[in-house]
Amino acid sequence: KFQHFHSLITVNGWVLSRGSGVGKSCIVLRFVRGQFDPTSKVTVGASFLSQTIALQDSTTVKFEIWDTAGQERYAALAPLYYRGAAVSVIVYDITSPESFTKAQYWVKELQKHGSPDIVMALVGNKADLQEKREVSDGIDYAEKNGMFFIETSAKTADNINQLFEEIAKRLP
Ligand code: GTP
Ligand code: MG
Repeated sequence: KFQHFHSLITVNGWVLSRGSGVGKSCIVLRFVRGQFDPTSKVTVGASFLSQTIALQDSTTVKFEIWDTAGQERYAALAPLYYRGAAVSVIVYDITSPESFTKAQYWVKELQKHGSPDIVMALVGNKADLQEKREVSDGIDYAEKNGMFFIETSAKTADNINQLFEEIAKRLP
């Protein structure tokens, strides 16, 4: 369905990680508005944003994104957002091994309960903080689990558009 010239494809994506503060909201805001807000507030429940991109083959993809809350108290809400989602973006913070462990919990959760043909991306965010890096690389884990892997920085905008373009290319 991606071959149609100028077709509009709607994608229900879902951005989360177990653990607050890894930069999910900043990634979505960078992608949708091209901005970075260093005073970004903890997400309460979830927020909805959308953005349309044009691929090189002239296909248009509309992302409908639920930016979910990472705080533990909201964990029970997650299935409301990932049920039926075409895409799941699981984010950790490269300076936080704990956030990487929590991301792996969500990968397993999605493998068990997500839709069978879901496109999953593993994102190591805050790649601008190289001097504080504590997670060397997520690529091995991502490959073993059939996920696409990328490191991003919502702060510098590094790889943010690439993340969403790569997701669009992998849609069934
Ligand atoms: P919850 O909504 O609580 O789940 O958190 P979140 O994952 O949405 O985190 P959020 O986007 O609110 O970012 C948390 C903090 O990390 C903020 O202080 C941001 O300024 C900072 N931050 C986000 N992305 C980056 C990044 O790429 N680099 C750096 N240096 N800081 C970032
Ligand atoms: Mg947030």
